[in-house]
Amino acid sequence: MFERMKIQIINGPNLNLLGKREPGIYGSEGFEGFLENLKTKYSTIEIDYFQSNVEGELINKLHEVGFSFDGIIMNAGAYTHTSVAISDAIAGIKTPVIEVHISNVYAREEYRHHSMMAKNCKGIITGFGLQSYELGLLSFIS
Ligand code: DQA
Repeated sequence: MFERMKIQIINGPNLNLLGKREPGIYGSEGFEGFLENLKTKYSTIEIDYFQSNVEGELINKLHEVGFSFDGIIMNAGAYTHTSVAISDAIAGIKTPVIEVHISNVYAREEYRHHSMMAKNCKGIITGFGLQSYELGLLSFIS
């Protein structure tokens, strides 16, 4: 039987505030509406969503889906730049992870130029607004 491709989107700290948080940088669209549109547009794919402000919960989700899903699109927020533990979790699972950012982190403060997780990811997409997530999705299907 035909099985739907399974993609997990994981958002880290402060990304629950999308739409309200620094709209000049992150835009004024909330994530939930964007996600609904994405699911409608790519209805043949199972797209699951998880957000947490807690580092350990992000790691638990990576472990949970990281041996069965086809792909993970992860915006780890500020943990991108600091978390050895998230980087290790990505190295320890089988499912490929795409690191995504809404803003162009390289056009911002220097401390955002380094990613702890990048070396364990399949690739990085940064600076395309919420479309960064869609580009991440396309990388798994094309
Ligand atoms: C971000 C960039 C990070 O530097 C920042 O800490 C975020 C959001 C982005 O999507 O542009 O929380 O990951």
